[in-house]
Amino acid sequence: LEAIPSKSIARLAEQVLDTQRDTVFQYAPIGKYTGDPELRRELATHHGTSADRVFVTNGSLQALDLVAAHLLNPGDVVYVETPTYDRAVQVFERRGARVVGLPLESDGLDMAAVAARLDTEVPAFLYTIPDFQNPSGVTTSASKRRELVRLAALHEFSILEDIPYRELRYAGTAPPLLAELDTDDRVITIGSLSKVLSPGLRIGYAMGSPAVMSDLAALAEGTYLSPAPLSQAIAARCLADGLVRENVEQLRKLMAPRLEAAVEAVRTQLGDVLLTVPEGGYYVTVQLPVTTDEATFLDAARASGVGLTRGSAFYPDGTAPREGTVFLRLPFQAMEPDEFAAGIGRLASLVV
Ligand SMILES: Cc1ncc(COP(=O)(O)O)c(C=O)c1O
Repeated sequence: LEAIPSKSIARLAEQVLDTQRDTVFQYAPIGKYTGDPELRRELATHHGTSADRVFVTNGSLQALDLVAAHLLNPGDVVYVETPTYDRAVQVFERRGARVVGLPLESDGLDMAAVAARLDTEVPAFLYTIPDFQNPSGVTTSASKRRELVRLAALHEFSILEDIPYRELRYAGTAPPLLAELDTDDRVITIGSLSKVLSPGLRIGYAMGSPAVMSDLAALAEGTYLSPAPLSQAIAARCLADGLVRENVEQLRKLMAPRLEAAVEAVRTQLGDVLLTVPEGGYYVTVQLPVTTDEATFLDAARASGVGLTRGSAFYPDGTAPREGTVFLRLPFQAMEPDEFAAGIGRLASLVV
């Protein structure tokens, strides 16, 4: 809750209710409507693109679903990072894809594995979370981004880059977006206001070629007729008022010490088990050597007061965490450093 500037959002929502009553309680315009024009302009400015390249959805998971529906034919292959965001995999499979997991290293996908796989089958698209990946915390290096875009052009597949955590950078400098390296519109970028403003407003968006944005809008209209104009108008006002930028600054101040403390807690209490040391985001992750199986370990953790997501759920079918380890995603963002360290202490007592 401390990450959501609810008072300021409420103040701006009142302004919207005062001035836009006649539109926000009506359907949005019908006919390939890509979203509130002011919101699209604001998002375009926020990301250094143009408004005709932005399509707004009800949260970014829906953007993933619509893009998958647009790009996929039954039986198509989708490449994902292993591990990856489990809900994305579910969405792609529901849209008929065969999901192929490729190993993720501490600086992005294993490019040799990508190249080798491309010799046997070319995907409809590759899905990547290039910044502070969920679940691993990994950021893809600039050189791997360039190589991915080069391979996409060579083998003619699309890339979906999902960037909900990109702005939550607490140190270092950001590598370019894959979209910024792409010269022939093969990359679709998926963004979200969930982690930088409010998840309850349900504002996600896709950015890419205007023709694709328009196709996505047609698909969306056939699915939910109209987005919720009130949410979009409030989000537009929050961006215009500078609240998103301001909140990102706040979040950086809040999270930077939490990340630092989380890394320290893991290193001192669990040893050298971090997958990577992220410079932002929500997660640090570990591959923890254990002598039991995952379910038994997680039960024991829960009994000691630490509830954790099942790490193997982030591994698509046919892949698994490293033999003899459990994969643990440790979300440090919502916990005070001492609370987090106490949790790590309990995990440490389970592995001695
Ligand atoms: C990588 C990634 N993509 C998409 C989403 C979905 O976010 P939302 O639908 O709230 O925009 C999440 C949520 O945690 C996420 O981690």
